[in-house]
Amino acid sequence: MFLAIANHKGGVGKTTSTLALGGLLSELGSCLVVDLDPQGNLTTGLGVELGSDQPGAYHWLTGQVTAAQVIQKTASGLYLLPADGNLSRAEMELLQKSGAFYTLRDRLTSCREQFRYVLMDCPPSRGLLTINALAAADWVLIPVQCQFFALKGLSALLETVDHVQRRLNPKLQILGVLPTMAEMQTIMTQDVLNALTAQQNFPIFKPLPKSVKFPESNLAGEPIHRYTHDARLLTPLRELVQFIQRQETL
Ligand SMILES: Nc1ncnc2c1ncn2[C@@H]1O[C@H](COP(=O)(O)OP(=O)(O)OP(=O)(O)O)[C@@H](O)[C@H]1O
Ligand SMILES: [Mg+2]
Repeated sequence: MFLAIANHKGGVGKTTSTLALGGLLSELGSCLVVDLDPQGNLTTGLGVELGSDQPGAYHWLTGQVTAAQVIQKTASGLYLLPADGNLSRAEMELLQKSGAFYTLRDRLTSCREQFRYVLMDCPPSRGLLTINALAAADWVLIPVQCQFFALKGLSALLETVDHVQRRLNPKLQILGVLPTMAEMQTIMTQDVLNALTAQQNFPIFKPLPKSVKFPESNLAGEPIHRYTHDARLLTPLRELVQFIQRQETL
């Protein structure tokens, strides 16, 4: 299953969700997480740093190295295709070639057999890297921060998804929306959750609570379930994993 984790709004929990979900999915089957963000937060969140002469997502996307040459197995068993600032050059370079929208899909072909799950952590933009992820994906998961203006950003992203479904990838489906950084006792979180549920076009998953354990686990380079046993944090993630498993068997 190819799953893009996307929202062009910055800092909504895309990378944190990718790490948390990837960690749990890797216990069910081989799981690759692909860092598609030149910020490289997914890469550092797994305790990996690319040396200046080490190839990453940029070299792989532009055909200079194979997937096998860049994918690393991390301590937790999760496979990582790492990225660093070099990736910011990829958009311009890919645009100059034909088939710019399908580069990632084509480069990932060999990974279909090798990995049961491939999670793509998108950058905070609707640029070519995000479009490539949506063009390659079977599903898209949309993390939405329980904050003011969260829904405004969501409708813009849904337009992009619709566009990709019509023009580039008719197979793409919305897995659902994952509310993040929820503070259930606040009116703001309740307002966002009510507004999301009112849309009802796709599943709204149980919210991920706001907790310092998430940034802490990133700093430790560990998926959240290996860092804490706090059921409040892990239950929404485990339910999401069960939902993903049900989609696989349909
Ligand atoms: N549930 C949470 N509770 C507390 N902090 C969180 C939670 N989820 C994410 N954070 C923190 O919020 C910040 C943004 O999260 P994250 O990097 O996952 O978002 P992002 O959407 O990937 O950002 P970007 O758009 O820059 O790629 C990070 O510092 C992260 O540690
Ligand atoms: Mg990120």
